[in-house]
Amino acid sequence: IQVEKQGFKHFMLKEIYEQPGVVRASLEAYLDSEWTPDSPSNPVRLGLPDRFYEELEHIQIVACGTSWHAGLVGCYLLEQLAEIPTQVHYASEFRYAPTPLMPNTLTIGVTQSGETADTLSALEMEKRRRLDREPKFAARMLGITNRTDSTLGHMVSDLIDTRAGIEIGVAATKTFSAQLVAFYCLALDLAVRRRTLTPERLGAIVEGLRQLPAQIEAILEVQERYIGELSHQFAETQDFIFLGRGINYPIALEGALKLKEISYIHAEGYPAGEMKHGPIALLDAKVPVVAIAVPGLVYEKVLSNAQEAKARDAQLIGVTAMNDDHAAEVFDDQLPIPTVDELLSPLLTVIPVQFLAYHIAAHRGLDVDQPRNLAKSVTVE
Ligand code: G6P
Repeated sequence: IQVEKQGFKHFMLKEIYEQPGVVRASLEAYLDSEWTPDSPSNPVRLGLPDRFYEELEHIQIVACGTSWHAGLVGCYLLEQLAEIPTQVHYASEFRYAPTPLMPNTLTIGVTQSGETADTLSALEMEKRRRLDREPKFAARMLGITNRTDSTLGHMVSDLIDTRAGIEIGVAATKTFSAQLVAFYCLALDLAVRRRTLTPERLGAIVEGLRQLPAQIEAILEVQERYIGELSHQFAETQDFIFLGRGINYPIALEGALKLKEISYIHAEGYPAGEMKHGPIALLDAKVPVVAIAVPGLVYEKVLSNAQEAKARDAQLIGVTAMNDDHAAEVFDDQLPIPTVDELLSPLLTVIPVQFLAYHIAAHRGLDVDQPRNLAKSVTVE
């Protein structure tokens, strides 16, 4: 299939703009559009076999790169919504130091390409070590991928197809959002089956998910110009820190990874509360700090962590809720998103950090779609 840029300067920019459509299509595929909070049925339609759900006690996720970040958001959702103890592993680490064998465990491999060697090997190893064991140790494997015809697709019998369309930019954007949707659906599916959510909470989350595509559209509309201009300030910047907490900690990691990948600026993502245990020593007026501070459980905490950075003269950029006057007092620049339930916010907070990385790299005149030393999928160990 020949994929064109359709007037966008880079594939990455085009793929950023495809996200509302991708999220909408995934939600339409996996959430029953007729479902209302009064419906007695499960709103999620993943088509997975019943044996996946029976006596499920643990979930383990293996992935690399951006897919690993999606796994971290997934872990948060699976634990907080469905109350299933979940671990996330770098596939390259898990291969050589797996968790001791746990019974009734679902193993999820997340890989947009379905070809990443470390992820495939980790899954292979997991399958192998569960052969010929008692039934409770039998392998239950699930792939979350954008390429169902890939090696992964042939290796595991059950998949969630992220349906994002082919992604050309080496730095993943739309496939990440689609992986998040897959995890929202899986976590909700399990939560319904395990009855861990009240009907009100379930209804609010489903309704919130349905609003997301239009909200992503709104962010794209409002922010591209602003972030484009803001990015000029970082022509000489050598280091960035990204802070987040809770469900937005992985988005801080993703923001830092995007920036490293395409702009070659050193960037660290950190859980905001950990900053005082090290990275704070790096801060001065030359190191901008991007903090994700949206309303919710950790909002006040992130704001106070951001203030600690400000006291070290750091330029503070906040991914905040629109019209948040309190945050406006703290941050030098704000990248606003619509106000949503914190639990759903990663699909919105990731947009400004993708834009920021894109514009800084584009402003520097770099090869955004083909960054040096990186491959779209790494098929060697
Ligand atoms: C490469 C790409 C990253 C990607 C990672 C995992 O390093 O450059 O963008 O996140 O592989 O890829 P996967 O296809 O397994 O999701």
